[in-house]
This record gives sequence, C-alpha cells and structure tokens, in this order.
Amino acid sequence: MRRKVSIIGAGNVGASAAERIVQRRLADVVMVDIVEGLPQGKALDLNEAGPVDGYDFRLTGSNGYAETKDSDVVVITSGLPRKPGMSRDDLLFKNFEIVKSVTEQVAKASPRATLIIVSNPLDAMAYTALKASGFPRERVLGMAGVLDSARMRFFIAEAMGVAVENTHAFVLGGHGDSMVPLPRYSTVSGIPITELLPKDTIDAIVQRTRDGGIEVVNLLKTGSAYYAPATSVVQMVQSILLDEHKILPCAVYLQGEYGYRDVYLGVPVRLGAGGMEKVIEIRLQPDEKAALDKSAAAVRELIVKLKV
Ligand code: NAI
Ligand code: 2OP
Repeated sequence: MRRKVSIIGAGNVGASAAERIVQRRLADVVMVDIVEGLPQGKALDLNEAGPVDGYDFRLTGSNGYAETKDSDVVVITSGLPRKPGMSRDDLLFKNFEIVKSVTEQVAKASPRATLIIVSNPLDAMAYTALKASGFPRERVLGMAGVLDSARMRFFIAEAMGVAVENTHAFVLGGHGDSMVPLPRYSTVSGIPITELLPKDTIDAIVQRTRDGGIEVVNLLKTGSAYYAPATSVVQMVQSILLDEHKILPCAVYLQGEYGYRDVYLGVPVRLGAGGMEKVIEIRLQPDEKAALDKSAAAVRELIVKLKV
C-alpha cells in the first residue's frame, strides 16, 4: 500500500511541503484547509505537474478529515503566520485554539500517525498537540531545529566561502528568541567553527540564526518564511517514512533528559519509523546549559499561559 501524508493547512508551508513530498516520491498527500477550494485547487495544480515532473503520487484537497484516514504522518501547519511587528508568541492563543481542534480531528482519523507540528509558537503548539492527541511523545514532534540549523549552516557556508554540504550546525532549545545555537558542535568538514572563525564572526552568525525568522518576515512583509521551513519538514517526514534513523534536532517532550521535564524543547533525536526513537544527550558547558535553561523557561512560560 502507498504511504499517506496529510498536511493540515494548505498555505505557504503546507503546500510547499506537499510539493516536495511528491517530487521526492515519498507518499500520496492529502491537504486540508478551512478555506473552501484552496486545498482542492492546490492539489489539482500539483497533480497536473506530475506528468511533467514524472511523479505518480496523488494529491487530494479537502475541507474535512475523512480523506486523511489512516495517514502515516500528519503535518500540522494550520494557523496564522507572523506579520512584521508580531512575535511568535503573539500567535499563542489564536493558534492554540486552531491546533487543539485540528489535532483532535487528526488523532481520531489517524490514531497510528506520527504528528509533526509546525504552527507557532512551535514548542507550545507541540505541547498542545501532545495533550490533544493523547499520543505517546514518540509520535508528536515539533519542527524547528532542522530549520534553525539549516539557517546557521547557510550563514557558516557564506562566511567561510565553502559548500553548504560541508557544514553542520546544531541549534537547540525553543524556537524563539532564546534558541541556543551551539558553535562548539557546529563544524565545517568535521572541524568546529570555533577553530576556524573569529569570535565576532561566530557571534554574528549566532545572532543572525536567532533572528533568522524575523529577517525573512521583514523582507516579505506579508507573511513568514516557507521554502526552508517546508524543506525542513520534508526531511523529518522522509526520515520517518523511510526509517532512516537520521539524527535531527527536533522539538520533543522531555522526561528528564537534559534535566527538564514536562516541556517541549529542541534537542537532537534519532528519527525513524516509530517517530522519535531516542533523545541524544550531548554534554553542555555551563554557559550553554544556562542558555538552554533560559530557553526552557521561556517555553514553559507560554505553556503555563495555555493551561492545557
Ligand atoms: P499560511 O497563512 O500561508 O497558511 C496557514 C493555513 O492554515 C491557511 O491556508 C489557513 O487557511 C489554514 N488554517 C487556518 N485555520 C485552520 C483550521 N482550523 N483548519 C485547517 N486549516 C486552517 O501560513 P504559513 O506561512 O504556511 O505558516 C503556517 C504556520 O507555521 C504559522 O503558524 C507559522 O508561524 C508557522 N511556521 C513555523 C515554522 C517553524 O519553524 N516551526 C516555520 C514557518 C512557519
Ligand atoms: C520562522 O522561523 C516564522 O517561525 C518561523 O521562519
């Protein structure tokens, strides 16, 4: 049987992710949105690209959940994006209602699916989805670390004048202003950037990574980034569908790892067919742990506001 991925929210991130999934020949895709005609129109348009691109996977658009039944993976992007002057946290209450009700419907239709949450504020929305679905933590993940690390890799590649594929970066913590880019674990061909770049350049890369989302928002003016976010989602989807066991930074519900409990935070995990297979704990220096503590506290503050 063909694999099925459902994407809730057929907006910029959702539709871009759908396009990449069929182009990579990973699965059939169902797109759901509240706007009538939008998911149907985008699905038809992408189906009509199939003969040219050579993919034979089918896309379906819907305003309900019947078509999502028994999905292997469900990506939740429904909600409002950031506009200039808006923080991710401004979206909190509006997106909470949306993510809660969407997750309840998704969980009913696809009780065995792995959920990947994208809606912001990311870590609080992943927490919302965990509670609303009743799924085990292994199957409720948030996408942010892959994106933030990709941004950092691009900035490192630019600063060093090297190929992006030679770079590796790790960004931990919540997907907000207090995220924790880790230069010691960020490398070019295996060499830590702390050995290759001056401190002021590294500091600038770290800050630009933290501001990566808002930099795009300020340029676009009408919404937030979606090409890099969609590609990051698809890397997670692929690792799950193809049981790749990739180690990727994802937002996961922590149960004592890194010293935190009952909070979502971005940490390196191994992703495979069952979703999150293992949290990888890396040793942190005191300043790095202090930064992660601050980030965990910022996420916890939002979760407390939600009273989930
Ligand atoms: P968008 O506005 O283009 O798409 C959102 C879609 O959700 C719209 O088509 C809207 O009609 C739909 N929607 C709203 N309520 C719904 C409901 N109850 N059921 C089904 N669909 C519903 O926004 P975009 O750019 O796709 O971003 C989506 C979300 O992802 C935003 O919250 C944004 O902040 C977040 N985001 C998170 C990133 C991350 O790294 N975690 C990166 C980029 C975006
Ligand atoms: C981003 O980082 C808006 O969270 C989104 O681009």
